[in-house]
Amino acid sequence: MSVMNLIMCLFLCTLSVCCFASSHRSILREVSDNDRSGIDRDYAVELNATSFDDVLKDTPATFAIVEFFAHWCPACRNYKPQYEKVARLFNGPDAVHPGIILLTRVDCAEKINTKLCDKFSVGHYPMLFWGAPPKFVGGSWEPKQKNSDIEVIDNARTADQLLTWINKQTSSSFGLDDQKFQNEHLSSNASDPQQIARGIYDVEEATSLAFDIILEHKMIKPETRASLLKFLQLLTAHHPSRRCRKGAGDLLVSFDDLYPTDSWSSHKQEEDKSLAKNFQICGKEVPRGYWMFCRGSKNETRGFSCGLWVLLHSLSVRIEDAESQFTFTAICDFVHNFFVCEECRQHFYKMCSSVSSPFNKARDFALWLWSTHNKVNERLGKEEASLGTGDPKFPKTVWPPKQLCSSCYLDHDQTSNKIEWNQDEVYKALRNYYGKTLVSLYKEKGIAGTEGAEGATLEDLTVGTNAVVVPVGAALAIAVASCAFGALACYWRSQQKSRKYFHHLHSLKNI
Ligand SMILES: Cc1cc2nc3c(=O)[nH]c(=O)nc-3n(C[C@H](O)[C@H](O)[C@H](O)COP(=O)(O)OP(=O)(O)OC[C@H]3O[C@@H](n4cnc5c(N)ncnc54)[C@H](O)[C@@H]3O)c2cc1C
Ligand SMILES: *[C@@H]1O[C@H](CO)[C@@H](O)[C@H](O)[C@H]1NC(C)=O
Ligand SMILES: *[C@@H]1O[C@H](CO)[C@@H](O)[C@H](O)[C@H]1NC(C)=O
Ligand SMILES: *[C@@H]1O[C@H](CO)[C@@H](O)[C@H](O)[C@H]1NC(C)=O
Repeated sequence: MSVMNLIMCLFLCTLSVCCFASSHRSILREVSDNDRSGIDRDYAVELNATSFDDVLKDTPATFAIVEFFAHWCPACRNYKPQYEKVARLFNGPDAVHPGIILLTRVDCAEKINTKLCDKFSVGHYPMLFWGAPPKFVGGSWEPKQKNSDIEVIDNARTADQLLTWINKQTSSSFGLDDQKFQNEHLSSNASDPQQIARGIYDVEEATSLAFDIILEHKMIKPETRASLLKFLQLLTAHHPSRRCRKGAGDLLVSFDDLYPTDSWSSHKQEEDKSLAKNFQICGKEVPRGYWMFCRGSKNETRGFSCGLWVLLHSLSVRIEDAESQFTFTAICDFVHNFFVCEECRQHFYKMCSSVSSPFNKARDFALWLWSTHNKVNERLGKEEASLGTGDPKFPKTVWPPKQLCSSCYLDHDQTSNKIEWNQDEVYKALRNYYGKTLVSLYKEKGIAGTEGAEGATLEDLTVGTNAVVVPVGAALAIAVASCAFGALACYWRSQQKSRKYFHHLHSLKNI
């Protein structure tokens, strides 16, 4: 590829992704401002007894601070600007250091919070606690308790003191004047298998961004429609995040109403546009406006395209053998029709086109995607080295590195840099990395699995069978095809009562 082309590609990628990212930020801002009715532009998140557990269960942040206060207390009012100065660094999509610490507050003068404040033995206002978010969920604190997972922050009268305390806890050097995208705190450790666990948030972010790009740019056309439907089916069945599976299923079932095949210019489409525009495929928390595992050390690197790769790999290790060819075409067509980076889609499609025989093993497809990604890495590695466009902290290399999987390497000829792979081991590594480990944080926080009756039924629907004849998403679409517009409610209702009905749909071969 010529230098000119590459620059063009980088330009296109950066431009489009950044534009979308920034338009998102404003949307997020609006949404969250509206949510916090009354209090304008607070960065610390106000919690109450109802929202407390949910928010702390849901946050991607590694740590949380909870401030218990009373709105009538003068000391609390004076403290607020100090607390906000720190919260601004860590909270929200415009944060300088997003996704690390969530700063929250609870008003103990509100009646509904009385029990919650009692559980934490709040004896004076303001009182600050520190801990990992899951430890606060259903949590409590007592003054005499030793070795509690939750700690009182005792010396935090000013923003400076609070930040000093935080820095000590996290062995960091955050400063009140830090600028956005000075990501020197970023720890990259390619040989740490646990790092991908934070990637689940990026998969959600990338999924959400991808659909926003598609919707905002009206990329759904008669000729691309089928390819999007196919990809949605794949996501409904196998997206690693439950809420994205749900959102993809929701979109799938309303799709015909939103984008009818026969009437591309009818006013019905106009009418429904706002509905589609406000659709957030992974739920209202996403996009968050920042990246976790995929965060680059420079603002124009990594992010969306990294998240997309992680999504594709995670799909490839979740499918059944019988779905491997479907998945292959769904992914190739999706990238071809909807990935806004021109060079990327062309290169990728060329590699798709060079596959001569259909896949009939999930393993073969996962390994094809892996080796394709490595070919991209190899090509980009050279280009980035000569152009200096790469991310210095995340150089392109073959994956998995030896530290991550030494048994994957049968032979490594250092002079020609040729590697002979043990493909069984590579497949095992892929399945561990993009399967179990990717959703491990979610498991811990209870998002991927078992809470709520609603979640359980969806789980049953989407992963409950080995005898997949058609992609499960296709069956979902049929199951609700009879529901008229406003299908969402209908969808859930039909799910509650139609387990039997659903099983019989499995035998249908086509939509
Ligand atoms: C389909 C597709 C095609 C692309 N084509 C181009 C292109 O033609 N030109 C261009 O400039 N950019 C292209 N990109 C973008 C480019 O590949 C990177 O995504 C981007 O440069 C960001 O790189 P990264 O360092 O975040 O790592 P990425 O390459 O995005 O990888 C993300 C993570 O996946 C893991 N990983 C790396 N290699 C593998 C592997 N072989 N198997 C499994 N996991 C792996 C690593 O943990 C890595 O951090 C493409 C992206 C996609 C999704
Ligand atoms: C608790 O917080 C949620 C979310 O901010 C809000 O919707 C709800 O109205 C609050 N409940 C009370 C009783 O204030
Ligand atoms: C990287 O992660 C590995 C595996 O967890 C660990 O052994 C190693 O010490 C880490 N390296 C750094 C620099 O943190
Ligand atoms: C990084 O992003 C910021 C804010 O969006 C922008 O002002 C800055 O110019 C960007 N830096 C580079 C090197 O693109």
